[in-house]
Amino acid sequence: MFYTERLMLRAFEPEADTNLFTQWLNDVEILSAISLHPPVPSSKASVKKFIEQVSQKESASGLPFFVVCEKPPPENGPVSLAKHDDYFSKDGTARYPTIGVFVLSSQDNMHFATRTARFGIALDKEHHDRGYGTELLQWAQAYCFKTLGCHRLELNVAAFNKRAFHVYEKVGFVKEGVRRKRWWIDGQWVDDIEMAMLEEEWFAKHQE
Ligand SMILES: CC(C)(COP(=O)(O)OP(=O)(O)OC[C@H]1O[C@@H](n2cnc3c(N)ncnc32)[C@H](O)[C@@H]1OP(=O)(O)O)[C@@H](O)C(=O)NCCC(=O)NCCS
Repeated sequence: MFYTERLMLRAFEPEADTNLFTQWLNDVEILSAISLHPPVPSSKASVKKFIEQVSQKESASGLPFFVVCEKPPPENGPVSLAKHDDYFSKDGTARYPTIGVFVLSSQDNMHFATRTARFGIALDKEHHDRGYGTELLQWAQAYCFKTLGCHRLELNVAAFNKRAFHVYEKVGFVKEGVRRKRWWIDGQWVDDIEMAMLEEEWFAKHQE
């Protein structure tokens, strides 16, 4: 299993996740943060198909799609899966509630020798500003550079997304450039900021 101190990461489970993802992908606020295309409604079937396609496409390139779950507090149960545990209780209640996604993807048609991955991250708004994003990104950097052997981890963020930009800078991503007025969002042009971290930058901070 994949764990941080307070989170558990797992693969997309269509049976368990489709309803929640359909809610998220019909929430205009969420759509505006994670997708720089105008928001459109999505049916449950199209959400399931979309996530399955993304998961399959990325797993073919060796890059995972993670569903991010919150570990139950220690007083409510174990903090990691025991031998016969499931993510869900028998009554269907989530023991490890889903709170977000973290998706790694390859640059379209990029040669494997560049060892570059891009990512997208989104946490449910009830769970913002609790340090989860920072914790997840720090784990993801170690996973990408140490486990996957990436050379470069990159992302883009809309200029209005101050919280995300702050967190990216805090964990060591460097602003590399701005694509000016790249997106048309809710009646105005928005700059698109490109950021990245290189393996040597991460290893320099994490020499044992
Ligand atoms: C962006 C996101 C992943 C960050 O995760 P998070 O768990 O909320 O972030 P954390 O709690 O780890 O850290 C939040 C930091 O941002 C700061 N912050 C909050 N709102 C801010 C704002 N409007 N401007 C600047 N900084 C802000 C907090 O003070 C905190 O900083 P600190 O740790 O230095 O005190 C999460 O908020 C999210 O999923 N947002 C919606 C989707 C999204 O925007 N995805 C990114 C698309 S590029």
